[in-house]
Amino acid sequence: MSSTPTENTANDSVLTEHAYDGIEEFDNPLPGWWKWLFIACIAFCPPYFLYYHGGTPGRSIEEIYSQALAANTRLQFAEIGELQPDEATLVSFMEKDNWLRVGKIVFQTHCVSCHGREGEGKVGPNLTDESYKNVKKIEDIASVINNGAAAGAMPQWSNRLHPNEVVLVAAYVASMRGEMLEGPRGAEGKEIPPWPEAVEAPESESESDSASE
Ligand code: HEC
Repeated sequence: MSSTPTENTANDSVLTEHAYDGIEEFDNPLPGWWKWLFIACIAFCPPYFLYYHGGTPGRSIEEIYSQALAANTRLQFAEIGELQPDEATLVSFMEKDNWLRVGKIVFQTHCVSCHGREGEGKVGPNLTDESYKNVKKIEDIASVINNGAAAGAMPQWSNRLHPNEVVLVAAYVASMRGEMLEGPRGAEGKEIPPWPEAVEAPESESESDSASE
């Protein structure tokens, strides 16, 4: 048991002071570069976590992806031409999921700071309930977005968004109605009649419509 520790030091390794039941330990430190890499990895973690997972809108991988997707969809604006912020257009775009996604990204980029992540309200009113302050008809949503309201408390967007973005975000806002999310502000304004139904079925659905006749 009490054999001489010097036998272990054959290859000029230095022994540490540790000994437990006669088992001793060589002093072989990790290489410096390895240790610094390890420390650097640990130091990298908190800023990375705070940046990407701290809840700031628009930074998660998922959101970056949908922004890229929306940017790509915007390239297709040529395909839909310049949209008019009228009832028929808004109602029909409420049905088009790929375009609503563009509206959603516009909303998440510019509107969540005042209207909440899901439209539940913050500084601005809850957009998911049945009550509105400045909106009586669906096209009023687009005009509030274009022109602002309450002397700029709701900013004017006509000079900052593409007209199609205004229509698409308005359709997205209209589509939030009825989700009835709990917000900090409660219902504001008056209850208004439901949005009109889409008049013409979109082309892609006409087949299933005629099949039922
Ligand atoms: C700086 C804060 C702020 C931002 C950013 C903002 N809003 Fe508003 N919004 C308001 C306020 C405040 C009101 C309520 C105005 C009032 O009291 O009449 C409002 C009202 C509205 C209304 C009418 C709601 C109602 O009940 O009449 C709509 C629709 C709306 N905002 C959509 C948007 C959209 C879409 C965006 C992003 C493009 C946006 N807002 C960005 C503050 C904001």
